[in-house]
Amino acid sequence: MRMKMMLALLAGTLFGVPTHAADMADVDNAAATPPMGWNPWNAFRTEVTEAKILAVAKKLKSSGLAAAGYRYVNVDDGWWLARRADGRILVRTSMFPSAATPDGRTSLKPFVDRLHAMGLKAGLYTDIGRNICSQAWDPSSPNLPAGARAEREVGSMDFQRQDMQLMFGELGIDYLKVDACGMADYAPDRRHVRDGTYRELGPFIVRHRPEQGDAAKVEALYASLAAEIAAVRPRGDYMLSICTWGEADAANWAGKYGQLWRTSPDIRATWESMLSSFDTAERRALYAGPGRWNDPDMLQIGNGEFGAGRLVEARAHLSLWAILGAPLLLGYDLTRSPDSLIAIAGNREAIAIDQDPAGNQGITVSRDGDAQVIVKALRERGAKAVALVNRGNRPLTVSVPLHRLRLRPGVAVRDVWGGRSERLEGDTVTRRLGPRETALLRVTGMPLAGVHLTEMTGRIRVLEDGRAGRRVDPAWVPAQVNAAPSGEPLVLAGERHDDGLGVLGNSRLQVALDSRFRTFRATVGPLDAGTTATFRVLGDGKVLAERAVAAPAGLDVPVAGVRLLELVVEEQGKAGPPVLAAWAQARLE
Ligand code: GLA
Repeated sequence: MRMKMMLALLAGTLFGVPTHAADMADVDNAAATPPMGWNPWNAFRTEVTEAKILAVAKKLKSSGLAAAGYRYVNVDDGWWLARRADGRILVRTSMFPSAATPDGRTSLKPFVDRLHAMGLKAGLYTDIGRNICSQAWDPSSPNLPAGARAEREVGSMDFQRQDMQLMFGELGIDYLKVDACGMADYAPDRRHVRDGTYRELGPFIVRHRPEQGDAAKVEALYASLAAEIAAVRPRGDYMLSICTWGEADAANWAGKYGQLWRTSPDIRATWESMLSSFDTAERRALYAGPGRWNDPDMLQIGNGEFGAGRLVEARAHLSLWAILGAPLLLGYDLTRSPDSLIAIAGNREAIAIDQDPAGNQGITVSRDGDAQVIVKALRERGAKAVALVNRGNRPLTVSVPLHRLRLRPGVAVRDVWGGRSERLEGDTVTRRLGPRETALLRVTGMPLAGVHLTEMTGRIRVLEDGRAGRRVDPAWVPAQVNAAPSGEPLVLAGERHDDGLGVLGNSRLQVALDSRFRTFRATVGPLDAGTTATFRVLGDGKVLAERAVAAPAGLDVPVAGVRLLELVVEEQGKAGPPVLAAWAQARLE
């Protein structure tokens, strides 16, 4: 026994430095790594027939993509016919013939069973309001719900218990995407409401105008829906995908109820749209981690500017989702896929970067025009995934010095798309990139001393973002890596810090240390001259250090034995615009 313990201790440390500095031990379930699978929306919109979906499911198996991790087969908008008077949702059996039953109640159970029998997982789709997205956005779809107005209200509002019991209990689904058009697109002034086609609701989400919406109302509905699911299935056994397109403040609450949440409007099959979806998630590294994932939307590989003739873009798209640790949901007709695209989607090394168990999101360490460098700390200490990105249409040279990877010179570089490995002699990783090309690398070597908080975002939670009770620019992200909430660089008294966390006053971050470290160090201070803030460090609820500072100050705090570290910034007065503050060079030794 003693021997075993000693071996475990030895395995967990290397000369006193924790070797697994960044895995989140408390998540061990279906969402411990981001979900992977396929969704028909980007390929078929509401034309989702059982035959098409099963054909794709077979292709997932025969192509090896399922074995590579793509297991969820999700149905999106379009599967329903009507809500019966007793509340049961009827399936459109012309699209899902196996759902027909002699008594007319219809059931997707045979379809779900079929997917399960193939070793796949089954996903379904609903809305948090009364009505759904296609009713507002695809009025000429032949697959809209039919019948009287109440029968066409197939969204989950007012039917949460019955719908969740149907989907998770009776049908046994594994994944539910819950959209929010019902909260956004049925305002009294909308034509389809004025003409009586649909019943008025809200709006509780006004896109791009958060101050006109009611995020608390939206959150409450998702919370009660999640509770209904939890009454049927244990948490951790399913995926709840929250689809408010980055609206309704979802990043701040969605992780309490769901396992993934959208950060952007719908992705289109264009390079610009892909980048803008990526950017929305990239800024939110502190909100994601094992069991809670930023979702920049489904992949467009195979479609439009990511099609068979655009392999450079397709590789870049997968690289960017993988370096984030984003859900990987393919969205094209796999039955017509050339092998070249299957090979990209199925690249095991790219998938391993996405699925790395530490769950750290990749963070931008430099951005200069179209050149962007993103680094994701992997679970294996001294291993970093690096994306060198050319966002533009002209060739470009992109480099990153090894110290920004927090590695010592003398590293091994594995090029995921090039399939080559090499020993790097110098101290800078450099690639010449063609238009829109991304080099995805796995770099391994000896780490620099200590672990920076920016290398362990998967273990950080934003407990309070500092916005409570006041208005903050909606374009800001209240807690950010390597940037202020406003997106500006971290500058303390004229000195620029390229590493650290930018927060608002009255914020509280939690870092799971699990007793692995001895000292916490940082340079802290308010980002605006003339303001003062109190920086407080707590260990398992006890105050370990507290400093009121107007000019940058160094903190050096013993944390031996601490499991949960809390980093608090408190403002002097709580009214008025928030103080912006930095935990620069925040690190653990
Ligand atoms: C919304 C979602 C999409 C898709 C459609 C279906 O736009 O964001 O992902 O589900 O609805 O109508």
